[in-house]
Amino acid sequence: MKKSKIVVIGTGAVGSTTAYTLLLRNRMDELVLIDANHNKAAGDALDMNHGMAFLGQADVWAGSYADCAGADIIIITAGAAQKPGESRTDLLKRNVAIFDSIIEQVLPYNKDAILLIASNPVDIMSYMAYRKAGLPVERVIGSGTLLDSGRFRYLIGQKLNIDPRSVHAHIVGEHGDSELPLWSLANVAGSELQLTDAEREEVFSNTRDAAYQIIEAKGATYYAIALALDRICTAILSDEGAVLNVSTLLNDYHGVSDVYLGVPCVIDRSGVRKIMDITISEEEKVLFHKSADKIKGLIATLQL
Ligand code: 2OP
Repeated sequence: MKKSKIVVIGTGAVGSTTAYTLLLRNRMDELVLIDANHNKAAGDALDMNHGMAFLGQADVWAGSYADCAGADIIIITAGAAQKPGESRTDLLKRNVAIFDSIIEQVLPYNKDAILLIASNPVDIMSYMAYRKAGLPVERVIGSGTLLDSGRFRYLIGQKLNIDPRSVHAHIVGEHGDSELPLWSLANVAGSELQLTDAEREEVFSNTRDAAYQIIEAKGATYYAIALALDRICTAILSDEGAVLNVSTLLNDYHGVSDVYLGVPCVIDRSGVRKIMDITISEEEKVLFHKSADKIKGLIATLQL
């Protein structure tokens, strides 16, 4: 059987936690860690390898871009991270250059993998990666609003005392300040959520602002995004056909085109197999357009 191989580029808090999560969940046979600071990647690989006596079999090593050859999934988490008070889009200028050079270094070694982007602002970085790499659109995926949707489902679950896995609710649009909740589709077992307007407002603002709260408290977010990335990898490697709110290129989706945004997508071994056709309210449509306009405006400032 062909061995499965995942590469994680960027071993900061998000990259190393993602690698560790993938390892704990036994997702691949080979795991390569790449970082501009090779020592950091080497230290992480060594630390994880010392857990093999308790874990089982996987080859983990700190590699170079040449090790991208043969990878099924290449996860990119590299780049500057938000400081307290900064928004994700404040990172744009700093991360564009880093990103450009990463894509350039990956491509000579692998044009068949799925690129899974988590660096912020993730919708713009994913769009850039798609444009730069020239890979089929289904194989360049941003983590999008999967994490936000997870936060949303958790917070709704807390209010209703229901397991978040039984809460069906979606955050779409930018992974960031202009994202929006699709209350019109949110349900538990097909029933409308028993929440007041004030509770809805509280749940959504806590969802949207969650990262600010965590960054203020401990400097970075990494556990939940690592689990979200693991979820996407599993849907790909197990050819699941799972519906996950990832960032993908839109083409006349509720009237929005030529931008990457988080929307419900079917994920399988091909990557984004399709975008789900969903009915949203007029009010939600207006907010979705606003989110798209914000991201498109920022993309227009870049020389792509
Ligand atoms: C998060 O939402 C900062 O984008 C990161 O946790």
